[in-house]
Amino acid sequence: MEVLETRAALRSWRAKVHGAVGFVPTMGALHEGHLSLVRQSLADNPWTIVSIFVNPRQFGPNEDYHRYPRTLETDLRLLRNLGVSAVFVPSEEEMYSLEDEVYITLTRLSRLWCGGYRLGHFDGVVLVLTKLFHLTAPTRAYFGEKDFQQLRIVEKMVEELFFPIEVVRVPTVREPDGLAMSSRNTYLSPRGRAQAVALYKTLQYIQTLVPTCPLAQDLLAEGRAYLSENYPEIKLEYLAIVDEYSLQPIEHLRQSLKLRALIAAYVEGVRLIDNIPLVVPDESS
Ligand code: PAF
Repeated sequence: MEVLETRAALRSWRAKVHGAVGFVPTMGALHEGHLSLVRQSLADNPWTIVSIFVNPRQFGPNEDYHRYPRTLETDLRLLRNLGVSAVFVPSEEEMYSLEDEVYITLTRLSRLWCGGYRLGHFDGVVLVLTKLFHLTAPTRAYFGEKDFQQLRIVEKMVEELFFPIEVVRVPTVREPDGLAMSSRNTYLSPRGRAQAVALYKTLQYIQTLVPTCPLAQDLLAEGRAYLSENYPEIKLEYLAIVDEYSLQPIEHLRQSLKLRALIAAYVEGVRLIDNIPLVVPDESS
């Protein structure tokens, strides 16, 4: 496995490689969720490159950029063992300069949900991915469904900026109790960790009510009540039922729509997100 630290090294690796290239962008602190993206890429492509870069531009001034877990040696060992071809580990200077002026903003998708609370977050994600996509020129790029809004934004950006890249969606990997895997789970105390499953439980609770409750506002009220009664210490940021494509909230659940339930909440001050596809039963059955 080649460890590439500069753009020049990455470009010369890329020039040598022929055939399909799978790309898995990450911020390191790798867990089973990341590894499932890597395994999918290894199965689909003769070459797989992973990037590890904690992107400062996607963190707000009061967010956890400095505290974000950095476990490079362990990450490299895991990737080597899986059979990854190359890893790109640039410095901040390699990716940005103080004179930089370009930002790319999605006018609708990046202002909803997480984007409404983490101002500028998705602009930073789109910027770093634009740079990484140009440098790695992959055939396919792999993203987890756990950050569903990010996934939709990447799909839209690839479509509108004409990147010749197939975006591959990979299902969320969960702990045995249902908690979605996340590098930020490591911030939680054992007590917080036990509480964190509340996000998934709330989404599942909403799903159980879908057959008898066709109005999104009623389902959301039930979900909020479930969370506050069963997990009073958790601070809900948003709970939403949205159209999977536009991410716009919907009012009436219909089987013809593709729907997602989204949640973001703070557990011991740690911001966690999760989502599930909502299945609406066939009205005729
Ligand atoms: O999902 C992440 O880890 C990051 O947002 C990404 C896609 C690697 C961009 O920095």
